[in-house]
Amino acid sequence: MVKRALSGLDVDGKRVLVRVDFNIPIEQGIEAIAAYDQRLRATLPTIRYLVERDARVILCSHLGRPGGKVSDSLRLAPVGDRLAELLGQPVNSLSDCIGPEVGASVDAMQPRDVVLLENLRFHPGEEANDSEFSSSLASLADCFVMDAFAVTHRAHASTVGVPTILPSAMGLLVQREVESMGAALENPERPLAAVMGGAKVSDKILVLENLLDKLDRLYIGGGMAVTFLNASGMNTGASSIEEDRLDFAKSIMERLRHRGIQLHMPGDVVVASQFEADPPEVRTSPAGAVPDGWYIMDIGPEASAQFSSSLAECKTIIWNGPMGVFEMPRFSQGTRVVADAIASAEGTTSVVGGGSTAETVEELGLMEKMTHVSTGGGASLEFLEGRELPGIAALPDA
Ligand code: 3PG
Repeated sequence: MVKRALSGLDVDGKRVLVRVDFNIPIEQGIEAIAAYDQRLRATLPTIRYLVERDARVILCSHLGRPGGKVSDSLRLAPVGDRLAELLGQPVNSLSDCIGPEVGASVDAMQPRDVVLLENLRFHPGEEANDSEFSSSLASLADCFVMDAFAVTHRAHASTVGVPTILPSAMGLLVQREVESMGAALENPERPLAAVMGGAKVSDKILVLENLLDKLDRLYIGGGMAVTFLNASGMNTGASSIEEDRLDFAKSIMERLRHRGIQLHMPGDVVVASQFEADPPEVRTSPAGAVPDGWYIMDIGPEASAQFSSSLAECKTIIWNGPMGVFEMPRFSQGTRVVADAIASAEGTTSVVGGGSTAETVEELGLMEKMTHVSTGGGASLEFLEGRELPGIAALPDA
């Protein structure tokens, strides 16, 4: 069902509560904020849209998992400072998100002002979807805009409670996420490919199940590939495999064959004598001949080249998960090559599932070259799984 867009909401001169997701890895230090500000930049179009219409913009977000208690290391003010730099105007970070003082600060706002409420999860009512907490938040504003795609899979007070109280709409970011990922799933230009990687098959079971009927080609790398290679009878050395997923991997391979969907698994792999960033010995091995006691760390150069040239023929590519142990620079090459291939494929729509894959794309400087990089981690996976996201379902239909 198509949800109400921002253009369908009367925001002119109004107090507008905007749910954003500014949950960035602040535990890495305040300096990390600028490095991981994709989620901040992604909300700028909605904030600017509202400012241009003389709205008073009241932003609210969670940060981390403080468990319903105040935690000084999870205050949003440093994030507000970064937002102010990006926005080019002051952002007033408040010290709470509900209560009389917050109400007074909001009452004092002028048209075009932007405030950032304090971390919603300092209050237990947020995650409990407590109706009183929702009402307190809603009382600050005339209307509500949902622009926190990354938290739409959580049924919390600020995601599903508030839109039952205030006139509401999707923000521009949520609209872009839903349209880009929806088009890739429902109405793709073909061939449609999925590139799946990351550590575990178990994280991707539901995505694979949902994509199976839609795909033309599937590429498997990362830790997931180990289980798939093992399931197809290959020796995978000392690499950890998901024993309890071997049957699932076999059944996926069987179903792909049956439906005539191309399956690309790495024909060669980079292996190491120890599972560590700088192991004593590293070499390339055919995927079927990993030496006993060695670990698969990345897809090999031939596999990277084969994946790349085959991906260049695809018209829509959905990518989720690195091809190797990307966080160890010696084993990041496969991911780099495949990311480059996806980014430079001519006339191809590339949709990158969020979380660590988005961080990888950001680190490689390829953000602008992808058609759409989701800001959602868990939320984008659930979207690709075909599940209803409560934070979107709660919004009124168009
Ligand atoms: C995310 O970063 O994926 C979202 O902000 C949701 O965070 P959560 O997993 O702590 O609910």
